[in-house]
Formats: sequence, structure tokens, C-alpha cells
Amino acid sequence: MRDFSWECRTRVKFGKGCVREHLADFVREFALPGRNIMIGYGGGSVKRNGAYDDAVSVLETLGYSRDGNATEGNLIVEFPGIMSNPTLRRMREGAELAAQMDVGLIIGIGGGSVMDCCKAISVQAGYDGDAWEDFWMQGMPMTHDVIPCGVIVTMPATGSEVNGCAVLTNEDTHIKTDRDYPAMNPVFALMDPSYTLTMPLRQLRAGTFDILSHIMETYFSYPVEDNPADDVSEGLMRGLIRDFRAAVADPEDYQARSNIMWAASLAENRIIKTGKTKDFQAHNMEHQLSAYTDCNHGEGLAVLHPAYYRHICMDGLGKFMRFAERVWGLCREDYESDEEFALAGVDALASFIKEMGLPTTLRDLGFGSDEHKMLKEIADSCFISQGAFRPLTNEEVLDIYEECW
Ligand code: NZQ
Ligand code: ZN
Repeated sequence: MRDFSWECRTRVKFGKGCVREHLADFVREFALPGRNIMIGYGGGSVKRNGAYDDAVSVLETLGYSRDGNATEGNLIVEFPGIMSNPTLRRMREGAELAAQMDVGLIIGIGGGSVMDCCKAISVQAGYDGDAWEDFWMQGMPMTHDVIPCGVIVTMPATGSEVNGCAVLTNEDTHIKTDRDYPAMNPVFALMDPSYTLTMPLRQLRAGTFDILSHIMETYFSYPVEDNPADDVSEGLMRGLIRDFRAAVADPEDYQARSNIMWAASLAENRIIKTGKTKDFQAHNMEHQLSAYTDCNHGEGLAVLHPAYYRHICMDGLGKFMRFAERVWGLCREDYESDEEFALAGVDALASFIKEMGLPTTLRDLGFGSDEHKMLKEIADSCFISQGAFRPLTNEEVLDIYEECW
């Protein structure tokens, strides 16, 4: 095995009713004394799925209030309107509010966008410098005290609840990128699968594909020799494919929904990344598409993955063959060559994407001639992963975008 370090400081409570049961204990443990609590959320889905009411009622029993006249240190400071693909500007607005209102705990309620934005706010609000420049751009060590941030998950996808990663979009420079610091891990994550039942089918599909993408982006990287991280990944992929089918067939299937929710966390709590170089080139390509067009993350990945894997399949032949066999159940004897067998695994992935009703072309994402004209600029702005089986060139990124057109 390659050397690695692993930690996950997030405390998780999972299950129906977990917010009402456990949030109070977490607040007592993590809220900085004498300071207010901020709750961050998105466009309002949390008010329809029960998560907002559950959280606020627990905070009220602890003596916190949304009433602006409440005693200092007992205020619930609301920060709504965190958009999908959160912007640096919105994060800065939240950080300014958190600093101004003397916030000592931030609770993000929502999907990956809300969680990422709240995690970044917790970093910026307690920092004198420019967090985007110093951490996201320069990758400087994070040594200042970060305001504790906990999350209540309403959409399984990113795994942001159990890692130190936060993705932001700088709309001025058209850069969308992540940074990962252990200090940015949420201090707690409350995961009640019943909140996810209100997700539109489109978000269910996109979020679940994002999970599969996280596993594949890790699996298809070095080392290629047998190792425990990849063994876990194969099991996770098989289970996720099963649960994805079940959830799409019956969106009320709690068993499938709860499995998917935990699979999202297992894919991104860094366990399957131990000792792996990690690719994430599909993510890099999607992030830049999103930076320019604001497209949906999981849908963008669904479009890009098969085309990308057809480009690198021969560079990681053994691993792609193993994927065909262990994830899709294909048999080598049914194919004339190793190459054909490996590509059959990629074809199986492409068929599954179609079967799940995900978009398969950039035009399906709503791209028109204006976006088409931008593809070269987007490709040139794309980060190139060095953890891949073969690092692409920016010209090849453009080829992939064109193949996805
Ligand atoms: O804004 P609201 O009203 O909350 O609606 C959201 C949003 O419109 C809605 N939603 C969430 N839970 C719902 C629900 N609607 C009904 N019922 C519920 N229970 O779903 C929409 C999408 O939410 P969003 O948070 O944007 O989705 P997702 O979780 O996919 O997050 C995407 C963001 O995370 C980044 C992506 O790039 C993107 O910016 N990523 C973060 C990562 C991380 N932190 O580790 C890794 C990922 O690879 C990814 O890059
Ligand atoms: Zn992702």
C-alpha cells in the first residue's frame, strides 16, 4: 500500500428523527458559549421537508430565538438563499453576517451547495485575510480557529457532510474549485433519510450519479494492484447501482433512499481514497462547465464520464477489465480481446446512465450555440489531474466536450 494519513472528525447521527433526538446535544457540545447560532439554507426546500422546523424547534427549546430582540448570544441568525453551485460572493456575504452577528456555531441545512457554503463561511468568518485567495487559490496551511460548523443533510450526493472539502464558484474569474482541509470537516452531521423523500426525481438522479462518480474517480487511479480501498469501492458501486434502480422505480422506497444516503458519505469520507492517487478529471471538466454555464453537477458528470473513460480506457486496461467484471458482471470469455472487454464495461456504464434517465449530451443539459462557442475557452481553463491513468491535455478536454455535444 502507498502511505497515507486519514482522519474524519465529523460525528454522525443517522436515522429517522435524528435531528429532534440529537441536535440539542451537539449544540451544547459545539456552540461557542455566549454567541449566536447561524442557520444557512438554500431556496426553501428545507421548509417543505421538515428539516428547518425540526432544527428551529430544537434550538428554541435550548433558549435560542429568531426574534431580533432576543438577548445577545441567544439569537438564531438566518442565512437563506444559498444557491446551487454556491458563489464566492454569497459565501462572503454569509461570512460578513456571521462575523457581524458574533456567530459561534453555523448549521447548514440542505444539500452539498448549502453545506459547502456554510463550511467556507466558517473558515472566512473567523479569518482576517481573504480565505478564497489564501486557501482555495494558494492552498496555504489553515491554522486559525474556524467557527464550528455542523450540517443537517437533505440531499445525498456530495458527501460534504463527512469531509473537509468545499466547492465554490468565483463568477468573476470563472473558476470553480474545491479545497479540502481537515479543519473544514463539519463537527457534526445529522442524516435523516426521510428528508430526502421530497427531492424531485431529477435531483435524485443527479445526486446519485454524483456518488457513483466519486467512487469511479477514485477507483480509476493508482495503485492498480489489489488493495482494500478498491475492494470497498467495488462493493459500494454494486450496491449503489442496485439502490439507484430501486429508488428510481419507487421514489418512496425508504430502504433504497437510506442506503443511498449512507453510500454518499462512505464514498467521500476518504476511506476509499486511502493510498490512492485519485483522478477527478471528470470533476475538473464538469466544474469548469458549471463555472461558465451553472449546469447541474451530477448531470454534467453523467454526460462526461463515458466519453472520458473511452479516452483513458487503454491506459488503465486491467482496472477497466476488473470494472467490467466485478461491477457490471460481464465475462471475459464473451469478448474477443482484453480491449473489447474493458470497453464493454464503459458501454455498460453508458447504458446504465441512459436507463436511469440522466442526460447523455451537452445539448441535453440545455447547451445551445452560445455555449458551444465557449467550449474552447472552457477546455483551456480546465485543471488537469495528475492522479489519472494518463493526464489529458487541454486539447483533449476539448475533444471530449465535442464528443459529448
Ligand atoms: O435550494 P433548495 O431549495 O434547498 O433546493 C435544492 C437545490 O435546488 C434541492 N434540494 C436539496 N434537498 C432537497 C431539495 N429539494 C427537495 N427536497 C430536498 N430534500 O436540490 C437542489 C440541488 O441542491 P445542491 O445542494 O445544489 O445539490 P448537491 O448536493 O448536488 O450539491 C452540488 C454542489 O456541491 C459541489 C458541486 O460542485 C455543487 O457546487 N460538490 C461538492 C463536493 C464536496 N463538498 O465534497 C464534491 C462534489 O463532487 C461536488 O463538486
Ligand atoms: Zn461530485
